[in-house]
Amino acid sequence: MSELIQYRLEDGVAFVGLCRAPVNALSQRLRAAILSACERAAADAEVKAIILHGADGLFCAGADIAEFGTDAAFAEPSLPDTLMRISEIDKPVIAAIGKLALGGGLELALACGYRVGEPGTRVGLPEINLGLLPGAGGTQRLPRLIGAESALNLILSGEQIDAERARLLGILDRLASEAKHLLDEAETYARELIAMSAPALPPEHCPRPAEDLPDGFFASFRERQESLWKNRLAPRLVLAAVEAACLLPLREGLARELSLFKQAEASSQSQALRHVFFAEREAGRIPNIAPDLPLRSIRKVAVIGAGTMGGGIAMNFVNAGIPVMLLEQQGAALDRGLTMIRKNYEISVKRGKLSADQVEARMELLHGTLDYAELADADLVIEAVFEKMEIKQQVFRTLDRVCKPGAILATNTSSLDVDAIAMSVSRPQDVIGLHFFSPANVMRLLEVVRGKATAPDVLATTMAIAKRIGKLAVVSGVCFGFIGNRMLEPYSREAQRLLLEGATPAQVDKVLTELGLNMGIFSMQDLAGVDVLYLIRQANQAATAHDESYCRIGDELTVLKRHGQKSGRGFYRYEGRERQEDPEVVALAERLSQELNISRRAVCDEEIHDRCLFMLINEGIQLLDEGIALRASDIDLVWINGYGFPAHLGGPMHYAEQLGLERVLASIQRYRSELGAYGEMWFQPAPLLKRLVAAGKTRIERF
Ligand code: CAA
Repeated sequence: MSELIQYRLEDGVAFVGLCRAPVNALSQRLRAAILSACERAAADAEVKAIILHGADGLFCAGADIAEFGTDAAFAEPSLPDTLMRISEIDKPVIAAIGKLALGGGLELALACGYRVGEPGTRVGLPEINLGLLPGAGGTQRLPRLIGAESALNLILSGEQIDAERARLLGILDRLASEAKHLLDEAETYARELIAMSAPALPPEHCPRPAEDLPDGFFASFRERQESLWKNRLAPRLVLAAVEAACLLPLREGLARELSLFKQAEASSQSQALRHVFFAEREAGRIPNIAPDLPLRSIRKVAVIGAGTMGGGIAMNFVNAGIPVMLLEQQGAALDRGLTMIRKNYEISVKRGKLSADQVEARMELLHGTLDYAELADADLVIEAVFEKMEIKQQVFRTLDRVCKPGAILATNTSSLDVDAIAMSVSRPQDVIGLHFFSPANVMRLLEVVRGKATAPDVLATTMAIAKRIGKLAVVSGVCFGFIGNRMLEPYSREAQRLLLEGATPAQVDKVLTELGLNMGIFSMQDLAGVDVLYLIRQANQAATAHDESYCRIGDELTVLKRHGQKSGRGFYRYEGRERQEDPEVVALAERLSQELNISRRAVCDEEIHDRCLFMLINEGIQLLDEGIALRASDIDLVWINGYGFPAHLGGPMHYAEQLGLERVLASIQRYRSELGAYGEMWFQPAPLLKRLVAAGKTRIERF
């Protein structure tokens, strides 16, 4: 028997334990081992029932994602064939689902006649997050178990549901009283089934899965969702597969599902989403920091500044059960901050996401203070005060005086030099940047900015605490704007320059949203505040002063007090939430073009795409070369989670690889020669891009 399976027979019940750490991903070898163990049990006359379980408790997290895109994905025995064979065994097979059954793991359980969970069990079909659909019977067997509509919702949402909900839906037959009794109670169930000569497969709960659905359900569902799905392929394939479950006999439905699955698996969208899956896991690994490096303990956090940012940051920690001291200079500002936090929680109560008791428990973990002395025992202090170097340094000098030795001192700056802040204290090794994105309690991204002096255990501790509060942490070195905002700069510069050359904000934004970005650059600037971006530019003026046209329109809008959504006017005009193109902005662009001697012309969509995105990509490649980003995939995560870049394109670096690095380079070089002095100035291909192309590389990596 394979080392991937633990097999034992106990008084007529065969236990087949999957043991492929850490999550029993169903690789070709594990599939073969499961099949062979099940065949052995099926052929053994002494075996009356079979229990499939995770040898270490955890049942199965699905197909092995690393096999997709390789021959191993469908190498024999394929997952669908393995599961078909299990469903044909003429003895009851019971899945004992410890911890989780996801994707192919749940499909394995669905191929069994019976399923038992434990109180903490989670089940789901998250394939949609990988641009896939369940490809081993999930779209066919689940509708036959719980009905087409419930199955469709579960598959399209990718949601992981808890044990009780799974039991109510009919996915689990029983729940063990406690996790440690799962196998015993599954065995009891097996013996009951043997005693009553239960069939290997019980009759289908919903043999006609669409029975309760109105006529035309699938067509109208498709029509309603079409605009939300935009250019995503997987949801459309899911719908087709579930529809097939309602129209075709099981075997034909399974064949249809498999062909749709193969289409999804081969798509560039799924490739991109699989890249994102592994990128997220890779981001936590930091070269030269051992995974077992002892961490500093974080039991108490302090946040300086109770504004929108500070309040949002504080919420993250109390949400995770960590007490927070919130410090302000004035009592009124502190009260405002605490009231705003409570209001935010109350909105969650109204939406049914939190109970009133939970809100009280969280508010109790939050303490306001006006006195720095109260921060003496904080393990981690995060400064979120006004974005000005002198003010931040002043705060850090005070922290240096009051905080205990070993406390981590973090700044939430979005663009200032973390090393200069660290120099203001006597313990620069304890200083780090924690750049939260706004709204800080909602946005998943956290840029962790490692200063020159930051100690390895400070970095490792902040990465661990980020995970604890549910953030996706990406390490950045120190430079203006770190990874995200530094790349935003050339992207924004090109977009603004294109307005002077003849494009309109709506045209530029349309090209970007059609590509799948959540927001166009001008809508984003209006939301962030045209004035706020102006101040950031001012701080970086030395790098851009040689170009008179540089973000000139943004500067003029700031002077005109067109600060964006908050003032009702910015790059657009707003009526309520309605956004409209504003002829005044077009007129302003025309006037500036004349002043700056820039000739206007019709700008085509392709030019908008290439100039905005390739300049963004070029900057990302440069960041990698400088060592500011550890790896290209980290840059992808920053842009997907902080700036709404579509995950199904894999982030800007992966997108560039998909388009072809030669194409990106050729386009940059073309604009360099076509755009005259402006092109000469800005369209400088990153040296790393040139080296990669010259060496015939197709992936972006340090080289
Ligand atoms: N295939 C391959 N590797 C997997 C995997 C999978 N399905 N699920 C997890 N892993 C790996 C991770 O890459 C990670 O490896 P490293 O330690 O080398 O980085 C390790 O298992 C642990 O994973 P996490 O760091 O994510 O640990 P976690 O405890 O935070 O989360 C999890 C565990 C909830 C299972 C999470 O990993 C997860 O959501 N996995 C993906 C589940 C999924 O999408 N399943 C569907 C697969 S597609 C499918 O099954 C298609 C089909 O229909 C046939």
